[in-house]
Amino acid sequence: MSAALAIPPDAAQARPNHFPLEVSEYQRIVARLENMTGITMGADKRTLVHSRLQRRIRALALPGFRDYCDLLERPEGQVEQTHFVNALTTNLTSFFRESHHFKHFVEEAVQPMLPELKSGRKLRIWSSGCSTGEEPFCIAMMLLSVFPQAFDRNARILATDIDSSVLRTAFNGEYSQERMKGVPDPLLQKFFAAGGSEDAPGYRVNDEVRRLIAFRKLNLNASSWPMRGKFDMIFCRNTLIYFDDDRQSRILKRYRDIMKPGGHLYLGHSERLSGPAEKSFKRVGTTIFQAV
Ligand SMILES: C[S@@+](CC[C@H](N)C(=O)[O-])C[C@H]1O[C@@H](n2cnc3c(N)ncnc32)[C@H](O)[C@@H]1O
Repeated sequence: MSAALAIPPDAAQARPNHFPLEVSEYQRIVARLENMTGITMGADKRTLVHSRLQRRIRALALPGFRDYCDLLERPEGQVEQTHFVNALTTNLTSFFRESHHFKHFVEEAVQPMLPELKSGRKLRIWSSGCSTGEEPFCIAMMLLSVFPQAFDRNARILATDIDSSVLRTAFNGEYSQERMKGVPDPLLQKFFAAGGSEDAPGYRVNDEVRRLIAFRKLNLNASSWPMRGKFDMIFCRNTLIYFDDDRQSRILKRYRDIMKPGGHLYLGHSERLSGPAEKSFKRVGTTIFQAV
């Protein structure tokens, strides 16, 4: 038998780099996360939570999860609360994910209003749960493809997320070659410049695209949202699924309240309307809804 296999399980648990996560500590963590963000996590996420927060415990040189939970509750734990949320969000995204939405956006939502847009009608679009920025950049590229004067004619995109680290990536607008896979060549040529380094080449989104977008931190489950005007289109894709039914219904109602009549709502492939929003939107495509 090798020396490694001879280590009894208790000794492995006591390794300085491994911190056991007790059920009671896991419960404290998921309750705090839900309270701060609305994200719900079942027992099946314990391994994920364990591995993501263990890194934080190591970084802070804390003795274990109990001290970590205590820190989050103390006033001096405020900075850690941001790391805590950033560590536990799921940020999976890609360029032109669920591409039928972008086709609909250009052909059915933007093109019919082009005459009005050209004569000065404001256009307001919200990418809520924008993650690392691929979604709002796709919206901006598609908009510019049919309406090159968008910026001068007062078209704007608001892109928000609760996770400050993904917002930083989005704001930088720089992506590895690997992440550019979904971008068609003509758009790549038109809207990106070479970026990255010699060792890790990548692409950077042009200023023409970037200037259309304002990136902001926003919690969809906050008691109020700071926006004043109404939106023509809202993208909320693959974000509501992390919330319970009540929160989903409440957010969908708030989307309708903050949207112009006739505006379009784009949801993720496994999301649906619920609550009062069921009556205030009509389905016009696969996970595409129009405010009535
Ligand atoms: C899976 S990503 C979706 C990205 C993109 N919309 C897409 O479909 O490709 C979900 C995003 O929702 C964000 N999120 C989770 N809870 C949130 C909340 N309460 N408020 C705002 N954003 C939240 C996460 O940080 C994450 O970046």
